[in-house]
Amino acid sequence: MSHLTVYKEHHPAEPLGVFTEPEDIGRELAPLGVRFERVDASIALPDGAGQDEVLAAYQHVVDAEKKAHGYNTVDVVRIQPDAHNVEQARQKFLSEHTHAEDESRIMVEGSGCFYLHAQDKVFQVVCTRGDLIRVPEGLKHWFDMGPAPRFAAIRFFIRPDGWVGHFTGETIAERFPKYAP
Ligand SMILES: [Fe+2]
Repeated sequence: MSHLTVYKEHHPAEPLGVFTEPEDIGRELAPLGVRFERVDASIALPDGAGQDEVLAAYQHVVDAEKKAHGYNTVDVVRIQPDAHNVEQARQKFLSEHTHAEDESRIMVEGSGCFYLHAQDKVFQVVCTRGDLIRVPEGLKHWFDMGPAPRFAAIRFFIRPDGWVGHFTGETIAERFPKYAP
């Protein structure tokens, strides 16, 4: 189940609060400029389904998002535990970074965990199927897909070249609980 755990940035062992209702998660994240909503993502994806099949299955959602928010490019990242590069993929965004473009995703299978660092706090957001999250440009964050990742996410871009990780060099991610679904 999707949930949000809020910590003071220096106290990863003592959560300030936990939120499990999507409306509550959205409300807590809104002041950060983060958009969190639920969308209908009930279409099951066959094991071998690739990007084109995932986008076709969710074309109604994709078209609505593109139209509403001006996204030009859409793709799909799908990772399953038996992928040969799982650990490498996990490490890629496991340290704190920012982007010069919003990080906008709809989780359509499995789960993954965003950690958002703002207002002297860390907001740990476990995203599951049906969650839409947009992390605004410049917001410090990291992402953990867990030790045996299984997720598929539709990614929206205005400028795909803007979505490059700028790493802050901070080690804060190492001090917070890893995602262990
Ligand atoms: Fe990111």
